[in-house]
Amino acid sequence: MTDKSKTESTKTPGMAADVSAMVKSGIELILEQQDPGGAYPASPSFSAYAGYCWFRDGSFIADAMSAAGQIESAERFFDWCSNVLTSRAARIQHIVSESLAGRPPADENMLPTRFTIDGAEGNDEWWDFQLDGYGTWLWALAEHSARHGRPLERWSNSITLTIDYLSASWQRPCYDWWEESAQHVHVSTLGCLAAGLEKISHTGWIEQPSADLAGSTAEQIRRLVQQDGARENHLTKWLGTTAVDASLLALIAPMNFLALHTPLANGTIAAIEEQLTVGNGVHRYLADTYYGGGQWPLLSCFLGLAHTAAGNQGRAHELLNWAASAARENEELPEQVQAHLLAPDHLQPWIERWGPSASPLLWSHAMFVRLAIALDMPHVTPDPSPVPAAKENAQ
Ligand code: BGC
Repeated sequence: MTDKSKTESTKTPGMAADVSAMVKSGIELILEQQDPGGAYPASPSFSAYAGYCWFRDGSFIADAMSAAGQIESAERFFDWCSNVLTSRAARIQHIVSESLAGRPPADENMLPTRFTIDGAEGNDEWWDFQLDGYGTWLWALAEHSARHGRPLERWSNSITLTIDYLSASWQRPCYDWWEESAQHVHVSTLGCLAAGLEKISHTGWIEQPSADLAGSTAEQIRRLVQQDGARENHLTKWLGTTAVDASLLALIAPMNFLALHTPLANGTIAAIEEQLTVGNGVHRYLADTYYGGGQWPLLSCFLGLAHTAAGNQGRAHELLNWAASAARENEELPEQVQAHLLAPDHLQPWIERWGPSASPLLWSHAMFVRLAIALDMPHVTPDPSPVPAAKENAQ
């Protein structure tokens, strides 16, 4: 962007200590807020989010907890997802058979993006039909299993349901990561589905027909992204545009959908640095108006993860330190920082509608933890809860 200035780096001596303290307090906050049934509330104090758990936020939070050695917490979240899915098995099978018969159900009959803490569907109106979170949960499961050698049998029914659901529905337009633009097919959504389906197909924990279906669907998605989801050397926000969106960073890291060091991966990082980053703060996309369109600490962390994977640790440290500097009292990380607003006139109407923007946001803390760990920052994590021995997990 025109007023971009890398000299805004907030890297200061002694910052490493802050990072380490924030990793610990972030994990503690997530543990404290996690429901005994496994749900991670998106933000405990923000009226529009409190009481709900998203598959998208939750899967990235579980991945960060898994990376931090908090196996029990991550697996409790997977249990919650699994209960949400298996308790809707008949509905999912109906969606799948109708879709395969050429009668895809209306958007409002598809699975929602978020559920109440006890796994019910809320009564509040929401922009609900979003597919990405279901791919992200498959990806987080597969990562967790590979990282800790954990079995996946206990979730096998829900994994199969998810593979069937996504394989029958992946081509549909739906709301994106930001719960907007439902008329488009979003490239980051496609990437989350392909990454999840591909990874889960190779775990060895699912039946061959399901693994085959997951693998072949992932291949089709990959082909579509290659043909229509990349322009000017970078991935695009949706099929048929040249715009970018910061959610695309996740496809480089941590999801590894894009091969590293390729012109497309490097070009995507460069386009997001150029178009969406001011200093070290990252915007969601150029036309963003939500709470005035501020900068999102969790996106600086995704950019940092992409840079780390690309071998640019120095840049990743700047981004992590900026995210640390966005913390409020009690080391709380907000959803967004109202700096360099893209649409300042839109800030007040959102405050009037829902109050000040979300803080703390558990997903922001999770991405901070995930980046600090990727950068091998010295940190202490709270003692993990005991986990059941692997063999007790089997059904
Ligand atoms: C964001 C979503 C997120 C939700 C809960 C929304 O404002 O656009 O990406 O899942 O908040 O954190």
